[in-house]
Amino acid sequence: MGQHRFSPTFVLMLLAGAGAPTSAVAQAERGIWDGVYTEGQAARGATEYGAACASCHAEDLGGNSNAPSLVGVSFMFLWEDRSLGDLFTTIRTQMPTNAPNSLPAQSYLDILAYILDANEFPAGEDELGADLAALGQISITADAPTAVAPTVVAPVAIAQASSSPSPTWVTLGLGGGHFGEVSLAALAGLARQRGPHLFALRSSVVTDFDDHVYDIGLLYGRGTRGQGTGGRRSVGIGLALVSVDGLTGEDGYTIGVPLAVEMSRNGPNIGLGVQGFANLNSVQSFAGAVVTIGLGRLR
Ligand code: HEC
Repeated sequence: MGQHRFSPTFVLMLLAGAGAPTSAVAQAERGIWDGVYTEGQAARGATEYGAACASCHAEDLGGNSNAPSLVGVSFMFLWEDRSLGDLFTTIRTQMPTNAPNSLPAQSYLDILAYILDANEFPAGEDELGADLAALGQISITADAPTAVAPTVVAPVAIAQASSSPSPTWVTLGLGGGHFGEVSLAALAGLARQRGPHLFALRSSVVTDFDDHVYDIGLLYGRGTRGQGTGGRRSVGIGLALVSVDGLTGEDGYTIGVPLAVEMSRNGPNIGLGVQGFANLNSVQSFAGAVVTIGLGRLR
């Protein structure tokens, strides 16, 4: 699926104050990476997929020995560089194999939206419509287009050019914690999601202003997204370096096991949530709960 790099588009847009020019780009050339369906539509499609398609293509769209997978590499193998119009027509005229064209056109569109969602093409503001000519214009490409309109200011253009389909975001959190004393807790992380897999580089600090502990580590987790609600739940566990010199008075590090549980509500570029975190280690375990803001490409 090409190269995926972290793209701080959102942050750069804030810095450059360039919200307006970017939306002009989105309108100039509406491709599959610009959000051609809505989350609500994909949620309807999920239900209809369950009723009409899952018996052969499986609940997770992974297919079975007869029916091909509708996600990932095998989907792109069949459909890369073909148009959404082709895919729509194929599904409508051939599926389900035992009753082609048996669903209303709207249901086929909703199911198509669900398939796009499952393949991690981003959702947007407008639903996928039945206009075949328009669907024929949208081609299924493996990576976000690199071309941008010349009206865009330079930093945004660079960020857009390297934009990636893998959701990647920064989380900042502030709240309360505990390491023997009730304290202030803060947290910062950079997270990236590939399907259900979450990878995060995270640092947390708990301080009562006299003493403090902090860690920096890598976490692996799993995330699920509530269908159509924009809600996300995730859990993670990892390995971190823990600084305990704020407690022992000497320079000291130990290895700890960081844990995290988060619930959030996410728009495409911003999310708000709560996170509980802990670090278990042999010198001074600590834990906290923070209110989080996520910025970046969220799912
Ligand atoms: C009774 C089993 C069955 C059901 C139900 C079914 N399919 Fe299929 N599907 C197949 C088989 C078998 C193939 C591969 C052979 C073919 O292309 O006809 C296939 C192929 C496909 C393909 C690939 C076509 C191509 O030419 O690349 C897509 C896309 C697809 N199905 C989507 C769907 C959708 C969407 C639904 C629900 C509306 C659905 N299928 C329901 C059995 C089924």
